[in-house]
Amino acid sequence: MKETIYEKKQQLRKNILQKRQKLAADFLTKNSQKIIAQVLDLPEYQESQIVASYVNIKGEVMTRNFINKSLQAGKKVVVPIILDIQGQKNIALSQIFSPEEDLAERTMGILEPKPDKIRIIVPKEVDFLLIPGLAFDYHGNRLGFGAGYYDRLLLKLRIDSYTAAIAFDFQLFNNLPTDDQDQQIKSLITEKRKLIF
Ligand SMILES: Nc1ncnc2c1ncn2[C@@H]1O[C@H](COP(=O)(O)OP(=O)(O)OP(=O)(O)O)[C@@H](O)[C@H]1O
Ligand SMILES: [Mg+2]
Repeated sequence: MKETIYEKKQQLRKNILQKRQKLAADFLTKNSQKIIAQVLDLPEYQESQIVASYVNIKGEVMTRNFINKSLQAGKKVVVPIILDIQGQKNIALSQIFSPEEDLAERTMGILEPKPDKIRIIVPKEVDFLLIPGLAFDYHGNRLGFGAGYYDRLLLKLRIDSYTAAIAFDFQLFNNLPTDDQDQQIKSLITEKRKLIF
């Protein structure tokens, strides 16, 4: 029987999530540092005033350094928050001034702005967006957790805003299964390479 795109995506998600569970703390810190250093070097980042960053969960490239460095550089920093509006869950972006003071654990153990610290910023304002993902390929395709949150968010950005996905090198594949709603990214940075699409 022919596998559907959905089934292929699910299989790949399972495979990557299993690998991520086994990553040592040392691997995560060392490679995250390497990746974030490359991101901070990008001219598109340096020229940006408003930056968006996901807040990592276990097994993802760690972004705390990116957030702190950006705040120190005087940039406006926004992070994702999942909002439930009339039963419809959607990703929004909210400004933070301090990760320690503004964030708390919410859905699935993910750190999000506390209810009294929500300051929504429209995606059109964002100059530079850091993107997480489970898998990527050499053509700019991305596989996420399967909610379509980032596919919908990317559609709302300005055409000239810059999108950099970050991941570990084992998350890079030759070709990912995709459908017509999957949005492409502009660059991918791993501990071993930088790909521009
Ligand atoms: N622009 C869109 N409008 C409506 N539905 C969408 C849109 N983009 C994606 N979706 C839907 O979201 C669901 C999940 O998409 P997909 O499997 O590509 O998730 P993903 O990209 O891996 O997840 P995420 O972006 O949350 O990390 C699919 O049913 C898809 O059709
Ligand atoms: Mg998608």
